[in-house]
Amino acid sequence: MNAPLTPGMIQDLNVPPYVQHARLIAWVGEMVALCKPDRVHWCDGSPAEYDALCQQLVDAGTLKKLNPAKRPGSFLACSDPSDVARVEDRTFICSERQQDAGPTNNWEPPAEMRAKLQPLFDGCMRGRTMYVIPFSMGPLGSPIAHIGVELSDSAYVAVNMKLMTRMGKGAIEVLGEAGEFVPCVHTVGAPLSPGQKDQTAWPCNPKLKYIVHYPETREIWSYGSGYGGNALLGKKCFALRIASTMGRDQGWLAEHMLILGVENPQGKKYHVAAAFPSACGKTNFSMLVPPAGFDGWKVTTIGDDIAWIKPGADGRLYAINPEAGYFGVAPGTNLHTNPNCMHSLDREVIFTNVALTDDGAVWWEGMEKDTGTTPAHLIDWQGKDWTPADGQAGRKAAHPNARFTVAATNNPVLDPAWDDPAGVPIDAFIFGGRRSTTVPLVTEARNWTEGVYMAATMGSETTAAAFGAQGVVRRDPFAMLPFCGYNMADYFGHWLKMGEKLQGQGARLPAIYCVNWFRKDEAGKFVWPGYGENMRVLKWMIDRVEGRAAGQSTMFGIAPRYAEINWSGLNFSPAQFDTVTRIDRDAWMQEFALHDELFAQLAQGLPSALLATRQALEQSLAAD
Ligand code: OXD
Ligand code: MN
Repeated sequence: MNAPLTPGMIQDLNVPPYVQHARLIAWVGEMVALCKPDRVHWCDGSPAEYDALCQQLVDAGTLKKLNPAKRPGSFLACSDPSDVARVEDRTFICSERQQDAGPTNNWEPPAEMRAKLQPLFDGCMRGRTMYVIPFSMGPLGSPIAHIGVELSDSAYVAVNMKLMTRMGKGAIEVLGEAGEFVPCVHTVGAPLSPGQKDQTAWPCNPKLKYIVHYPETREIWSYGSGYGGNALLGKKCFALRIASTMGRDQGWLAEHMLILGVENPQGKKYHVAAAFPSACGKTNFSMLVPPAGFDGWKVTTIGDDIAWIKPGADGRLYAINPEAGYFGVAPGTNLHTNPNCMHSLDREVIFTNVALTDDGAVWWEGMEKDTGTTPAHLIDWQGKDWTPADGQAGRKAAHPNARFTVAATNNPVLDPAWDDPAGVPIDAFIFGGRRSTTVPLVTEARNWTEGVYMAATMGSETTAAAFGAQGVVRRDPFAMLPFCGYNMADYFGHWLKMGEKLQGQGARLPAIYCVNWFRKDEAGKFVWPGYGENMRVLKWMIDRVEGRAAGQSTMFGIAPRYAEINWSGLNFSPAQFDTVTRIDRDAWMQEFALHDELFAQLAQGLPSALLATRQALEQSLAAD
């Protein structure tokens, strides 16, 4: 980081005059020397720059402009079939000590990883432009926010970062002359030799990918992919993996949580942060529409995926959404599952890997529920003709992980405080898995440690396609398994310590709830209607926070009585309620055995308070 800066070098690096940060310029200089791009472009984040880059991507064939009468200001990108999702098996936490990465992360010694990456990055941007992308994770200047700078040879990444973060000049201004930033280097890993043109509209390295984090030096290096969390390094790499280690060291929390506001008809406002594993309806919950019977209630979105949470001077926990946009899964989204999301997608969206209609609009599986029909002809995400017969034969028109990228400001129920630098005070945490049996609809932890236990043991039942045998429970503690940048057992310890510290200061800790929308009946059908009806559970939580619902103590926390839920507008019988709330002793004995397996895996450094909670819960089950 100590290369001397010469005026000539600044000129070659194309540094704009408003950049005054010597360390940043020196680092860009070093990376230019290593990656050897043809040009350097510093992103200012202006609308003119966004438009010019989108046009450039259209000219290169990476983006297709959609019909402005159908989807104004919107584009479609189709990726290489080898580059369609995050690559967890190619994701590494390279801490100095293996035990600091823990048993759930891929690890290599940092020196060895650097030696591997150095030759891969040498000349990796030849023939391309290096985009210098400064961004703030969180409202500009917020004490909860942090700055990153991504260097990328992908203009698709630059335009997505514009929608997903506060990107450009504003972030440079916050940095000033010496501010801290997380350096992030990204390449698609497809250098061009002199005169060579791209043979593909989605350059990437189909054979080799590395998503590498160095937690001690807070650096991110990503090679070979242009897709989502592999390439938009502000999201999972910075806002979760690196930020979780910053939170551990600095006494705050970086969580895989949506944040929503709930206002009652009297105008009293509460804030809730909720963690669900990927693909469990998180975006839907963050934009929930209160159902019939909830006149005057308002639910508003602060964030749909990630929360950064720091203690305030009053000892309460304040949360911001570090992101400024949504990178959500399109298939399954429709006016029934998430009308607010559908309206967010009316204009100025970058779609990736959805299908193209004959009139220049987009389509994905699930949209037939809105229109009652499936288009007679589409171009699928791989550019091939598609008809409903292909769908019947099992070929999807949109890739199941097809995405939309859209600015949060498109959301019709965006919370007015979404960009407040102070954040919002959190009243409750929710942890939800996907379980067809065992875990009840909702329970409240009796204390912080019990809440941490519930979150630590949450799990998600796998589908046959994704992970082998159907119905196998994949533990996903705090929904952070793929995103915790350090040892999961130490992460549990950090949560316990945060609770103790705040309680020691006499603060009111948020209540902790465990939810499960996915219990099935004997015929294998979901019993709880979900979606907007989840408001009924949310309202019970608010009643609890306000001290208006007594609930009843069960083995796994405090549960609602049937009469404590507002059922107005929904037919849901006491028998159905019993099906989604019953605690089955035999199933729970098996469940505890699975908790033991998780704890055995995480034995090194596992807080003893969790083992004690495990024993107490089992004793209470036996006594019931
Ligand atoms: C996401 C995920 O894309 O959790 O948000 O996988
Ligand atoms: Mn997520």
